[in-house]
Amino acid sequence: MAKKVLISNVLPDEARALIPADVQVDYNASDTPLPQTEFLKRLTGKDGLICHIISTIDDAVLSAAPSLKVIANVAVGYNNIDLAAAKRRGVVVTNTPDVLTETTADFAWALLMGTARRLVEADHFARSGQWRRWQWDLLWGTDVHGKTLGVVGFGRIGRAVARRAQGFAMRVVYYDTVRADADTERELKATSVDLHTLLRESDFVTLHTLLSPQTRHLIDERTLRLMKKTAVLVNAARGPIVDEAALARALKEGWIAAAGLDVFEEEPQIHPALPPLTNVVMAPHIASASRETRLAMAMLAVRNCVAVLEGKPALTPVA
Ligand code: DGY
Repeated sequence: MAKKVLISNVLPDEARALIPADVQVDYNASDTPLPQTEFLKRLTGKDGLICHIISTIDDAVLSAAPSLKVIANVAVGYNNIDLAAAKRRGVVVTNTPDVLTETTADFAWALLMGTARRLVEADHFARSGQWRRWQWDLLWGTDVHGKTLGVVGFGRIGRAVARRAQGFAMRVVYYDTVRADADTERELKATSVDLHTLLRESDFVTLHTLLSPQTRHLIDERTLRLMKKTAVLVNAARGPIVDEAALARALKEGWIAAAGLDVFEEEPQIHPALPPLTNVVMAPHIASASRETRLAMAMLAVRNCVAVLEGKPALTPVA
């Protein structure tokens, strides 16, 4: 019998073209999640699902699709999927690591630099007609080069961010539950420290950990208060790693200097205390959003799905 796949949201033609012709594809070309009843109806009877992080795949969803063999998430993060429920039901879950590492690291740096040098404020100032003359004390920021970068989560993306710090002659410290091997530490000139030391010593703290019960609100009032008053926080990982209400207070009351955020606790909603603040640079979850990388993510997700449907091992299964 022909295999059936649901692609629950928009995916580039080039990626969909990798699906063999004998596979029946049900494609929702929109980037809006399907209403839940329609989603469940269209998922029923499918062997594969290719989805984005806007689809929540929990036990109830899985129970509507007993024939499902694979969920190919078009993202490296997979907190939208109940992994334990998928495992119980024998459904393979895959993600898209590696292909987005460098692009995401580039963007974390864009947030870091843009925040440190007040780029968004400067842009508003320049284009709004307020610029009358050269001014000695206009929009002073803080130096990046020669400072200390603290990387929380030293996986692929955290390491790629750390690698870039060498070009800025920075000291790099990192915190991870698993220590990197000596060669990696040497190559990246990175020192393993505990979280509190990292927060106390870093001028820039950048988050690159998965969202899990252990990392939810890892950055909260208590940990924010450990940071330097001059420090900048960057989050291009997952919103709920940071207690957004506490961060808004920290930024307003000067416990830290600034933040660059690509992700938020209740996306697409942003805590109402953040937008009025000028010391936060915000982006709508676009760290991996380059043309090349988004295409590579889509292609990898399709290849994962097809592999499992053909009875082969997934290329990048989630452990
Ligand atoms: C990821 O890959 O997890 C991103 O956050 C989705 O763009």
